[in-house]
Amino acid sequence: MLTIALPKGRIAKDTLKIFENIFGQKFEFEDRKLILETNDFRFLLVRNQDVPTYVFHQSADLGVVGLDVLEEKGLDLIRLLDLKGGYCKVAIGMKNSDSLDYNKPDIVVATKMVNITKKFFAEKAISPKIIKLYGSIELAPLVGLADMIVDIVESGQTMKQNGLKVVDTIMESTTHLIANKNSFVEKKSEILELYSKFEAVVK
Ligand code: PRP
Repeated sequence: MLTIALPKGRIAKDTLKIFENIFGQKFEFEDRKLILETNDFRFLLVRNQDVPTYVFHQSADLGVVGLDVLEEKGLDLIRLLDLKGGYCKVAIGMKNSDSLDYNKPDIVVATKMVNITKKFFAEKAISPKIIKLYGSIELAPLVGLADMIVDIVESGQTMKQNGLKVVDTIMESTTHLIANKNSFVEKKSEILELYSKFEAVVK
């Protein structure tokens, strides 16, 4: 039995579709249920940012999550396979009327991705003031809370419709199949079997 943590929303749906294609049976969570059990698998429905946590603590053997979340969490996990879905960028956004100057003193950045932001600026030997937010990040430069934001860009519509532009890209992200290190040893054959089936579908 393998336990697999999936992030609520489209990625869970897409991943369960892959399972349906591979195993030829229906994989569907009932209404508000957070656990789905079949003969060979147990799926957990969790918040996107919590997927690495469940896998790290071995409450799940495997998980599906974006590279951006993995980078932000920084936990010691096995990145088994790039599933190539859920493409997005982690980018720096500013008001259309502003221009980027990394040499400006006292830069203020608003973000929900504090670790990625710190690392990116540290590599430039800059230590900005970082304001942690939990959503609607695009608002921050519009009301003078921050000079810039570090945020996820998918279609680019949220930035565009709020008068912001991408001024730099920090990283690109796609969904990845991840594994707990102990599970990988304890359940190696089961995991590798699933891995090769997923690999065939992704290719
Ligand atoms: C994310 C992200 C942007 C938006 C980008 O927010 O933080 O706000 O999606 O998508 P787009 O480029 O396609 O417009 P999310 O929907 O997760 O909501 P949040 O503001 O609560 O974080």
